[in-house]
Amino acid sequence: MNQDQLKQLVGRAALDHVPAGQVLGVGTGSTVDCFIDALAARIAAGAIAIPGAVSSSERSTQRLRSHGIQVLDASEVTGLAVYVDGADEIDGRGFMIKGGGAALTREKIVADLAETFVCIADESKLVKTLGRFPLPVEIIPMAAAQLARRFARLGGEARLREGVVTDNGGHILDVRGLAIDDPLAFETEVNQWPGVVTVGVFARHRAQVCLLGAADGVKTLR
Ligand code: 5RP
Repeated sequence: MNQDQLKQLVGRAALDHVPAGQVLGVGTGSTVDCFIDALAARIAAGAIAIPGAVSSSERSTQRLRSHGIQVLDASEVTGLAVYVDGADEIDGRGFMIKGGGAALTREKIVADLAETFVCIADESKLVKTLGRFPLPVEIIPMAAAQLARRFARLGGEARLREGVVTDNGGHILDVRGLAIDDPLAFETEVNQWPGVVTVGVFARHRAQVCLLGAADGVKTLR
């Protein structure tokens, strides 16, 4: 199976975690695109019904709407039972790096509404230590140089993602060369730096369930 087929596999597997009759939180990315398509097919077949979804990006909003799935604003719900999203890296504890698609801020907002974060990814995303994937950080543009100096003190090399403006009007720094041994402490520290909107470490909002697509099927980590 190639990577696209693994994404489709976990996208379908996540359907088992969709609570019928409840608004669903929906993440962003190519794996989530597979999930949205599978969800739409299941709804069209009459096998499941949901009143709508809270989306973490304009990209996912468009895809949901193209399938006729209603998209609600985050402020229209008081909570969500489940949030389904992908990851760029995930470790055995459910700690993740996210933001490869620049949607990390809205992803963290929707994850914060949810009781259960269901992560869907192919097996290549599973790591022992977070940091091989360049860490995305959404920032306020005027802080870029100072934040790059702060990351350099931690051994990271930060580069501005050229030509990218997030759905919130922010910019993205990608930080290479980090080994994030303590994701909770790292997230807490970096979140406090002036100019950081959101750091792409998801430790406080870790995945409670991770569905990993592999050649021999879907593995579930809890
Ligand atoms: C977007 C994300 C995505 O979940 C992450 O980049 C994984 O994407 P893909 O499923 O395309 O590999 O965090 O901001």
